[in-house]
Amino acid sequence: MIVRSKHNKSLNGHNLLWLTSRKPIKLWWIYCESLNKNHTKTNPPQFLVERSQTLYNKDMEKLHIPVLLSEVLASLDPQPGETYLDLTAGYGGHASKILDVTQNYKNSVLVDRDKFAADYLERKFPPDIAIINEDFYSAVLQLTECGRTFDMILADFGVSSPQIDMGERGFSFKHDGPLDMRMDQSQVLSADDIVNRYSERELADIFTRFGEEKPGRARLLAREIVHHRPIKSTKELTDIIIGKSRYSKTHPAARVFQAIRIAVNDELGEIEKTLPLLPKLLNKDGRVGIITFHSLEDRLVKDYFKEVSSFGEESELKIITKKPIVAENQELVINPRARSAKLRVATRN
Ligand SMILES: C[S@@+](CC[C@H](N)C(=O)[O-])C[C@H]1O[C@@H](n2cnc3c(N)ncnc32)[C@H](O)[C@@H]1O
Repeated sequence: MIVRSKHNKSLNGHNLLWLTSRKPIKLWWIYCESLNKNHTKTNPPQFLVERSQTLYNKDMEKLHIPVLLSEVLASLDPQPGETYLDLTAGYGGHASKILDVTQNYKNSVLVDRDKFAADYLERKFPPDIAIINEDFYSAVLQLTECGRTFDMILADFGVSSPQIDMGERGFSFKHDGPLDMRMDQSQVLSADDIVNRYSERELADIFTRFGEEKPGRARLLAREIVHHRPIKSTKELTDIIIGKSRYSKTHPAARVFQAIRIAVNDELGEIEKTLPLLPKLLNKDGRVGIITFHSLEDRLVKDYFKEVSSFGEESELKIITKKPIVAENQELVINPRARSAKLRVATRN
């Protein structure tokens, strides 16, 4: 099969034969001419498509403000002509500023597993950029198999503001919606499966591991959820949690929602599997920047950077940020989401 971008450009400048692929190729923009752009993913429900179209009519960049933007630009230090891989391109906030400088669209790649984000990126960027609508672990495997390398890689983990703000996506305890939380809506597992089918013990385990709830509270909430099944919406779930909570500074449902979201999207598994592949994708002196939003993600990055840079001259990466870069107060005023953001940067030896 010949693999091309949707605009008939191959990934690395010449046509590729994917004879050795271990996984079925699901890249959104891959097609055989004979299939006429049919793809392997199931289409999301029509109401969601319509709703997202309404949102796209607004200026999406205002809906998602990229975090630590000036810090990312300062540490990745893009230069004209350089190549860029964005593993979580979202609405292209970081990508557009970097590509404004490099102007190298043809040899750069944007990845996002969310179809709405990928569709938006297609409209936003020139047609010669490759957009991969896939989880970043699969994308990185494919790019490595192609022997692709880049001067800069950025990963800005977690969810985008449009994902959180569209109640229909089911990510938020602030908006009512179905129990969904899938970033990739062609995926089978959703929040509904976890909330309504997992055992009390499995739920408590998820709340402790991915939400860092205390074990006693995790068990209490798991019991309460199982008692109230079937639970149909994010509001129902939120009310059940509030009913078992005392006042706290953070919303009582925040940890449980974070935990379910991480489990639905296998967020930590994706990061763990992907990090060790990144040096192979970097050119010499290439820079990789990683933004995390909670301690579970940051610990994975910190430990990986420490491990991979511990062989002196032989190390694949050199750590640039001994301590993570965090947002200045000015940024927090306009973008409270940046409050928990941490940027770690390394370069390829
Ligand atoms: C914080 S947003 C990125 C925003 C982006 N940097 C910008 O400036 O617009 C995170 C994005 O990463 C995507 N994402 C999260 N985990 C992913 C994964 N494992 N594979 C691919 N995309 C992922 C989400 O769908 C979301 O759009």
